[in-house]
Amino acid sequence: MRVPMIAGNWKMNTTVSEAIDLVKEMLPGLDQIDNVDKVICPPFISLAAVKALIKGGTIKLGAQNLYFEEKGAYTGEISPLMLAELCEFVIVGHSERRHYFNETEDIVDKKVQAALKVGLKPILCIGESLEENEAGKTKQVLIKQLSSPSARIYYFSGLILAYEPIWAIGTGKAATGKQANETIGFIRQHIARQYGKRIAREVRILYGGSVTADNIAEFVNQPEIDGALVGGASLKASEFLSIVRQTSEIKRRR
Ligand code: PGA
Repeated sequence: MRVPMIAGNWKMNTTVSEAIDLVKEMLPGLDQIDNVDKVICPPFISLAAVKALIKGGTIKLGAQNLYFEEKGAYTGEISPLMLAELCEFVIVGHSERRHYFNETEDIVDKKVQAALKVGLKPILCIGESLEENEAGKTKQVLIKQLSSPSARIYYFSGLILAYEPIWAIGTGKAATGKQANETIGFIRQHIARQYGKRIAREVRILYGGSVTADNIAEFVNQPEIDGALVGGASLKASEFLSIVRQTSEIKRRR
């Protein structure tokens, strides 16, 4: 059985004190839900403060990015080793990083490997753009993103995938549950063909892109979808809590 996961990607939002307030607001409700992995990913500078707040509870912490070198003269970067002291998860290859910061497949692959090396669990984001989608190239793009030379080791190491169609991120235009389920089913089949059925059955695959409290049920009711990577809606304590609660109830019934 795959444990469902809801991860909140706060992106470049919240000062340290705002992050503390947001966590304090979510904490009592979130802590009680036990059949879902609840991950929050605040900005780097808030990780230590948030870690202290959630200590001893059930909420897990993730970072939004990392650099692939362990240490050295890379001004302004954050290393896997630094993160490993603070959190359990790290988002890698988010489309905003690929787009605004020119992260290539090669860089994304190095980051995944660097994270795994220190025991961080990567949440690897993949997904097609609107043009690729309209040109019928979705499967081709996903296969390319899933085919890094070291991909074989990913799936044996607790890697989590997040399928995030770029046209659905921050646009309010989410995919339908059926669309997302079909594409995630395709990803799982691809993994089964490449690495075997057991790995494909075990890997958790989330949907991401304009997930809200109003549409989460549509996604987590689908058999292939193990949860969601939530952007905007993770910044509102009550909405994030509702997303996690609905996921918990739906997956408990399945
Ligand atoms: P969104 O972002 O929920 O605001 O669309 C999702 C993401 O970028 O992970």
